[in-house]
Amino acid sequence: MNKIKIPKNRLRKLQTFTLGQKPYELQNINSDKINNKIIDLCSNDYFGLSRDNDVIKASYKTSLSEGLGSGSSRFITGSRPIHKLLETHLEGWLKKEKVLLFPSGFQANIAAVQGLANRSSIVIADKFIHNSLLVGVKATGSKLVRFAHNDLKDLENKILKFKVTQNSILIIVESLYSMEGSIAPLKAIVEICKKYNVELLVDEAHALGILGPDGKGLSFDLSDDITMITGTFGKSFGSGGAFIACNSQIGEYLIQTSGAFRYTTALSPALAAGALKSLQIIKSNKTWGINLLSASKKWKKEIVRNISFPVRGDCQILSIITGQEEQTILLQKHLEKNGFLAIAIRPPTVPENESRIRLTIRRDLNLGILKEFTSVLKAFK
Ligand SMILES: Cc1ncc(COP(=O)(O)O)c(C=O)c1O
Repeated sequence: MNKIKIPKNRLRKLQTFTLGQKPYELQNINSDKINNKIIDLCSNDYFGLSRDNDVIKASYKTSLSEGLGSGSSRFITGSRPIHKLLETHLEGWLKKEKVLLFPSGFQANIAAVQGLANRSSIVIADKFIHNSLLVGVKATGSKLVRFAHNDLKDLENKILKFKVTQNSILIIVESLYSMEGSIAPLKAIVEICKKYNVELLVDEAHALGILGPDGKGLSFDLSDDITMITGTFGKSFGSGGAFIACNSQIGEYLIQTSGAFRYTTALSPALAAGALKSLQIIKSNKTWGINLLSASKKWKKEIVRNISFPVRGDCQILSIITGQEEQTILLQKHLEKNGFLAIAIRPPTVPENESRIRLTIRRDLNLGILKEFTSVLKAFK
């Protein structure tokens, strides 16, 4: 067995939580210490849909008729009407020819990269893309080149450098970055990709449901020029599982060749039904995303006023850049002691000296909670 080569101070401990009474509350059930009722400022359940009655009911009802698990892969007996229904609804919502479901976003991202790159490809990826996309690149054996975060000049330079090799080029970005809370300049990226005739993969994990027209993601208006997008149901949809959206030709290629699609137990019917109900709820509550973004702006403004560390993030993901790891852990503990759960994010997840407290703002947080939070922040020495 491989030896763990992680310094002791960076070893993580798994904590177990159960739900608290209020929709935004959690309980740390390991907690023999501190406060065991805590306000969730770090999950990605942005709309609280994981606890929504209608979503849970839809999931339960489908479990009764279709089974909790699907029992096998889509090509054996695992395909259920709920899979087709969810795929068709997403195709209509996102105006894409083909949507394919996966059991997780991690898996969808690996499949997406494998569908668009091979051993002779060059993959040019933003420095901050998610680990799952990097695992996908590794699995293809392509050459990985990174460009500086959201730096269009660097992206163009890297394309120019490798364009001469005649190898196919794939660009990978996220639309809303999970650790920075920053938005990709997608329109300009699309223009560059068109100029050099290269493929573009966009991970919409954190944007979907919130950003873009009616929460359809930041790719929506540019969709014809984006080769593939991925999205997950584990965040604003409050369920689990994920999807790839693309044209029908690439979709068929994935169905026939993607191991991550073919050789895995199909997405649980219960989760698919929950995701479909969430999609219906998101569709009929078009202001949720807009309201969450404006509440997040308020949170950022108040946090900046009350703490001296820089705060990054343009949307519902905000990062308090504490820099040193020790300082970050102290701040996490201070918040936890005062009833707020916001996790310290440290290297290697983020660059050295860029440790941070990553906050995610939920739609059910009220102004009273913000006020309480900022006074706790203010008291941090
Ligand atoms: C940007 C991004 N992409 C993909 C994933 C993976 O999604 P899932 O949790 O559905 O596996 C995550 C989740 O952490 C993510 O943040």
